[in-house]
Amino acid sequence: MSQLEQRVISPSRGLKGDIVVPGDKSISHRAIMFASLAEGTSRIRGLLRGEDCMSTLAAFRQMGVQVKEAGDCLLIEGRGIRGLQEPGDVIDCGNSGTTMRLMSGILAAQPFFSVLTGDRYLRQRPMGRILTPLLGMGAEISGRENGTKAPLAIRGGMLRAGEYHSPVSSAQVKSAVLLAGMQVEGETRVFEPHLSRDHSERMLRCFGVDIRSFEGGASVCGPVILKGRDIDVPGDISSAAFFMVAALITPGSELLLKNVGVNPTRSGIIDILQQMGGQITLLNQRELSGEPVADLLVKYSPLRGIEIGGDLVPRAIDEFPVVSVAAVFAEGETLIREAKELRVKETDRIAAVCDTLGKIGGLVEPLEDGMRIQGTGTLHGGLVNSFGDHRIAMSMAVAAQAATGAITIADTGCTATSFPNFWDLLEQVNH
Ligand code: S3P
Repeated sequence: MSQLEQRVISPSRGLKGDIVVPGDKSISHRAIMFASLAEGTSRIRGLLRGEDCMSTLAAFRQMGVQVKEAGDCLLIEGRGIRGLQEPGDVIDCGNSGTTMRLMSGILAAQPFFSVLTGDRYLRQRPMGRILTPLLGMGAEISGRENGTKAPLAIRGGMLRAGEYHSPVSSAQVKSAVLLAGMQVEGETRVFEPHLSRDHSERMLRCFGVDIRSFEGGASVCGPVILKGRDIDVPGDISSAAFFMVAALITPGSELLLKNVGVNPTRSGIIDILQQMGGQITLLNQRELSGEPVADLLVKYSPLRGIEIGGDLVPRAIDEFPVVSVAAVFAEGETLIREAKELRVKETDRIAAVCDTLGKIGGLVEPLEDGMRIQGTGTLHGGLVNSFGDHRIAMSMAVAAQAATGAITIADTGCTATSFPNFWDLLEQVNH
């Protein structure tokens, strides 16, 4: 079983070369969803073929959407927002929180019954955060543990437009509300404490939807019509982040990461690493399907510890495991606060980072809403567990690049959820 695969990663003598990381996971999910809900055909180039996005694709196939391979593109025959069919079986979202939460928003307003489930990690993650606003709009959804956990059973139907003030800055919550709202009569507005990733808003605009972004939130007037179109998916900055940190902490490294999405709601990792003293240069800046893109030149750099909180947290929410590795190799202390959301990711990432880095000589103190990391400048070899979390597995492979001995990582199959060729690329830049 691939999930139980383990890998031994040896220290690097410097990472060198040009690489192209796979397509952005968040943008890929949305491209599949919006193309399926559109009228006409959409051609998607650069789609991430990771397990999470394949869960989204399989879900729409179950609802009658036709999909064809065309060279390096995927052609999706949209069915319009009224054309989906009731799925004949339970929809399996696998490990993907984005699939489950965004699909809940879509399915809540569809005139049929559906059930969403996922793997043992996803079934432990909080779903009350999407049920609360959707129930407020009149949705009929129930779930395990008093509606807080999947499986979720959705009796789709007529909803009311609504206004929701989310207590968390979450693109999954914001998108679930907007995707429900765009199918019903009237204006739906959603507010959040800090702006979370805005890929839904940007891509819906590409599909012709009039969606408004304003200070503190976004709104849409339904019902809308999506028009099929061609989408180019940029490389995933969250995947590039592993190579950025690996190059910054390993003497002799210089990497060019090509075609990386640098949307300001996602580029917190660049700001964090630059504040730490990392040399990262943005080259060839351009726009692709409404998303800013650049090539990133990254060179080995002495780093210093910093304090991270506020809006940098949602702007780098998936990068904290690898930021923690950078912090170990920085001079001084790094303090991460206001990041309680890390406790409800694919695993509790505060606990997982403390456990894994602790096993290889890192000094990390867990805080309720973050971590305090001492920049000792060194890690030793050892055995660590990914806890089934792709970003923990890849962060440990990054740590191994600059450690004094090999690190054995147990349970590495999970990297297929977001970065299927991660190990190949790591080998490529080490030659
Ligand atoms: C995502 C939003 C974020 C992020 C996740 C992908 C998305 O989750 O951590 O990997 O595609 O909308 P939250 O909405 O829970 O912050």
